[in-house]
Amino acid sequence: MSQVLNALLHKPCGNLSQLNESPTSIILHVGSEERFRAPLLRPQVMTPGNTRARTGEQLAADEIHLWEIALDAPHAPSEPLRGLLSDTELERASGFHFLKHKHRWTTARTALRQILATYVNAPPKSLKFRTNEFGKPRLVAPTDALQFNLTHSRNLGLLAVATHAVGIDVEYVDRNVDSEALAPHVFSDAELELVVRCKSAHERQQLFFRLWTYKEAYIKGRGVGLSLPLKEFSISLKDDKHADVIVDRAWDDGQPWRLATLSVKANYVAALASARRVRGTYRFTWNA
Ligand SMILES: CC(C)(COP(=O)(O)OP(=O)(O)OC[C@H]1O[C@@H](n2cnc3c(N)ncnc32)[C@H](O)[C@@H]1OP(=O)(O)O)[C@@H](O)C(=O)NCCC(=O)NCCS
Repeated sequence: MSQVLNALLHKPCGNLSQLNESPTSIILHVGSEERFRAPLLRPQVMTPGNTRARTGEQLAADEIHLWEIALDAPHAPSEPLRGLLSDTELERASGFHFLKHKHRWTTARTALRQILATYVNAPPKSLKFRTNEFGKPRLVAPTDALQFNLTHSRNLGLLAVATHAVGIDVEYVDRNVDSEALAPHVFSDAELELVVRCKSAHERQQLFFRLWTYKEAYIKGRGVGLSLPLKEFSISLKDDKHADVIVDRAWDDGQPWRLATLSVKANYVAALASARRVRGTYRFTWNA
């Protein structure tokens, strides 16, 4: 379960035109000019060997690339892979109590470096990140033009890459989470009304995770952590897969944020927040 939910359990704190997650084509841009368009029939499988073929030239300003990263690799990340990490990252990896968590985190971080490196055409180790006061990392070298957000839960990692602010969240649907007890601490009055209208405990739990991932994707996109209190903005559901954010003027950043549910594997719920309307979200799989 996420750090936020864990924190709340201990200390309650006070047209993406329709984000299209089933794109139909791959588009190759050279500069701003579209050169090539090919049908995309299923998500691409990218491995460290073949990502070089895709570069940042292919990420258009009105697109989001979504990478699914398997975090339970059959083996621990190899020495050359660990060699891609900075001293600070290696130190963080060494702080995990359980080896499984260390391997998952290291896999996610090495994948992050390798994937972003293909967009900026630089060696993965040379990438430099800086975090804001709430912990949101951003790329600062060799360029700060590429934006990203990462999320991981158990053995699933998701990475959103764009040229504008994005936020992403995935949660494993943990049956032990007491969503009814948590809801009043994290949901606005309007959201609580939606929860009350649910006809069954199952429906309530589904809605809880859907709203929760939307809210977390939004605050991750904004990069403001819980300094934006969770009860100070509301998710307004548009249809089964999309939602808007209703935020008081005092907390608004003026961006037209859009939210979409992402289809991921069973027992996980995921959401993507985009500060801009985009033409398409293109999905890839990264196998470590
Ligand atoms: C950011 C945050 C929402 C992540 O929650 P989570 O569900 O545990 O974690 P996720 O797996 O979804 O995301 C983790 C990744 O998000 C990124 N991230 C970290 N802080 C972030 C932030 N403030 N905004 C956006 N992204 C952030 C990192 O890439 C991180 O990956 P890493 O752990 O491998 O470095 C949570 O840590 C947070 O809110 N922090 C702010 C703390 C705060 O404001 N506290 C006030 C207490 S009242």
